[in-house]
Amino acid sequence: MIAGDGVGPEVIGAGVRCIEKVADINFEWFDWGCSRYEKTGTFLPSDGLSTLSRFDAIYLGAVGWPTVPDHLSLWGLLLPIRKTLELYVNLRPTKLLPGVPCPLAHRGPDDVDMLFVRENTEGEYSGAGGRVHAGTDLEVAVETNVVTRRAVERVARYAFERASERRGHMTSVTKSNASRHAYVLWDEVVAEVGKQYPKVKLERVLVDAMAARMVLNPASVDVVLGSNLFADILTDLAAAIQGGMGMAASANLNPERGAPGMFEPVHGSAPDIAGKGLANPVGAMLSGALMLEHVDLKPAANKLEESVAQAIAAGVRTRDVGGYASTSEMTDEVIRRLAT
Ligand code: NAI
Ligand code: MG
Repeated sequence: MIAGDGVGPEVIGAGVRCIEKVADINFEWFDWGCSRYEKTGTFLPSDGLSTLSRFDAIYLGAVGWPTVPDHLSLWGLLLPIRKTLELYVNLRPTKLLPGVPCPLAHRGPDDVDMLFVRENTEGEYSGAGGRVHAGTDLEVAVETNVVTRRAVERVARYAFERASERRGHMTSVTKSNASRHAYVLWDEVVAEVGKQYPKVKLERVLVDAMAARMVLNPASVDVVLGSNLFADILTDLAAAIQGGMGMAASANLNPERGAPGMFEPVHGSAPDIAGKGLANPVGAMLSGALMLEHVDLKPAANKLEESVAQAIAAGVRTRDVGGYASTSEMTDEVIRRLAT
């Protein structure tokens, strides 16, 4: 467990209370994140990543705090975990739960059930690049989008598998008109993998058009496969469509199971509401359900998901989704239903 910064400990604390109600899990807490960095100069111990590889799963809150530059905290902790453990799938289910107000007019739970599969190891977040002529007026910064056949192949295969278990519709999102090398390779590889899934309808959509379509016709979206950057952006839009950042869950997976999965709400450390008991714990709870599923405790995962949905349907919601409950009131309500 890496609760992290800001609202991280609040929502992870809530998630752990729920998980302990439905499953027998041994948690070990790590104080990694920005406050550790400010005290010791590192976000995690030097053997941190190998320590993590011994576990079945990692439950993470959020990393980031206004006093530490965001690129340091992201590259100091989160991205090294995703890359070193080769958690190449970032899975982000997006459902609008009954009782949660949808910001799109005339749309309800039947219109919003999407599954985002984000490539999680390279693309625009590959880290390839640099700066030269620092501090002079000739200064140049280059950030390279890296797309490899192998990485696209494996994440595409995962997305097609999921699409074949769902409505059989896969949308691959790129920008292969303006970006003429990297995304053209992406398109070619996805189409090749798709040949092995004749029952899944593959569609290619440019990322800008996809943003509009998610707003105008979310019901037309089933599984979406996207690069690291594009799916990062589209899943914040997806989170908004499902009620807000506090509702969205995610899993970082290596489906071959060579490494532990990492489970985290999509939102960040929310410094504006941290420490006030206002954070919505639902994204963290639903990430906990994804984690239970990952460690083969599917009935417990289902129970947690159902209890969250029931609590919300009964009208108990935090402020960000139009309710009045505090973090702990929301959590108490879910736990009450878990006990039945
Ligand atoms: P954010 O997700 O922390 O906040 C965006 C907005 O959503 C804020 O208005 C916040 O109050 C609200 N919000 C977020 N989580 C909420 C919750 N559980 N309940 C109710 N409202 C919630 O994104 P922001 O402000 O861009 O980033 C803040 C910090 O978090 C930065 O340091 C950033 O680098 C870091 N961050 C970390 C992530 C991670 O660890 N995976 C992901 C995104 C940002
Ligand atoms: Mg993001």
